[in-house]
Amino acid sequence: MNSAYVIHGGQPLFGRLRVHGAKNSVLPILAASILGQGTKEIVNCPDLRDVASTARILEYLGCRVEREGSVVRVDPGPMNRCDIPDAMMREMRSSVVFLGAILARTGEARISFPGGCELGPRPIDLHESALKALGAEITKEEGGDLLCRAPRLVGGELNLTFPSVGATENTMLAATAAQGTTRITNAAREPEIEDLQAFLQAMGANVSGAGTSTITIEGGWPLHGAKHAIIPDRIVSATYLSAAAMTGGEITLESVCPSHLATVTAMLAEAGCDLQIGPDTIMLASKGPIRAMRPIRTMPYPGFPTDAQSPIMALAARAEGTTVFVESIFKNRYRHVDELARMGADIKVEGRVAVVCGVPKLTGARVNTTDLRGGAALVVAALGAEGASHITGLHLIDRGYEDLEQNLSRLGADIVRLTIDD
Ligand code: EPZ
Repeated sequence: MNSAYVIHGGQPLFGRLRVHGAKNSVLPILAASILGQGTKEIVNCPDLRDVASTARILEYLGCRVEREGSVVRVDPGPMNRCDIPDAMMREMRSSVVFLGAILARTGEARISFPGGCELGPRPIDLHESALKALGAEITKEEGGDLLCRAPRLVGGELNLTFPSVGATENTMLAATAAQGTTRITNAAREPEIEDLQAFLQAMGANVSGAGTSTITIEGGWPLHGAKHAIIPDRIVSATYLSAAAMTGGEITLESVCPSHLATVTAMLAEAGCDLQIGPDTIMLASKGPIRAMRPIRTMPYPGFPTDAQSPIMALAARAEGTTVFVESIFKNRYRHVDELARMGADIKVEGRVAVVCGVPKLTGARVNTTDLRGGAALVVAALGAEGASHITGLHLIDRGYEDLEQNLSRLGADIVRLTIDD
């Protein structure tokens, strides 16, 4: 059964909210949990569609997975497969991060080519070249399967021509089983990479440098069970702050890492919001009109995060003035623009550039979610629109947001989730 949001805009948000664990941290960490014997206990694990998809892959591989509230335990002992079926890969392309983990564990891996997704082509050339640099043989088979063999992984120096998050993670995981030292230069610096390093270290791996552009892994260290708490989700944090900025009011996010979304809070301050940053809290108050912001170019961390582009664009759509966005990371990350236009937004897209001319008001409309963060943008826009909005395609939003409607309702939003016939 599909479901839809009905949102009546105009209600200011007030209250406090604890932000759940980061989707983009827990996914590679779940993949890493197959390394080494011993149960891995993952705390603060969000209850998301993508996490459920990853748990299904772990169970398909033969691992035992159990969830107790926000704790997920993985026992990789019984693992007896090294392939991921096409249907599972298509469900979530970021499952490609299992490649490095399965290779490290078994020396062989078979996945179907992840293919594109809502954001455009999602090549894995950087993953392939990095794993080949460690000695993996990768062949493309009929029907789109990738067969990877690595009877012996050997550490070495490798450079990523682009600081790909997934390629960095895949290489780190494979390198834990490589003989000798692996040095990754131009590595991604995202907080989720640091969280993966912390988890690997807890398992006994010798990994250092995450958060910088150079990560070093001493392979061959025996890995064991571990317990690890996932960092808070910086993109979910940015989404709730965008919503409060849009509706007016005052919210405080708890259990967050403010430094992980410093570029977003800086933009919200520039838009006229009052922000008070604590060690693990962010308070945002929005009273006056929202002002247009300086040009926003999405960049690898610590630059402005591509995942926050669409929620912030929803806010800019009703700002006083014009905000220019440059989407440097993905080729096709403006699919939410046409849906925002149905609510009265005035946005012109030319290639990677989107020019958002703020309008005095947005009007509720029937809109459809095109991708995870694009759907979040539609929710932000609907919360600040006049009248009722009807948002379909919630399964895409459920990939990355836990209890979104419950949390927004608790903060004062008029939002309900309806089950609709296909
Ligand atoms: C991760 O995707 C995140 N997903 C994405 O979040 C996020 O937008 C992205 O990093 C950038 O921060 C997860 O962590 C599960 P990349 P990933 O490899 O690893 C190109 C969300 O909404 N590229 O850094 O796939 C690629 O096409 C999701 O939570 C190659 O060309 O991102 C893209 O243009 C969306 N070749 C750019 O690099 C490769 O081999 C960034 O990709 C790999 C990537």
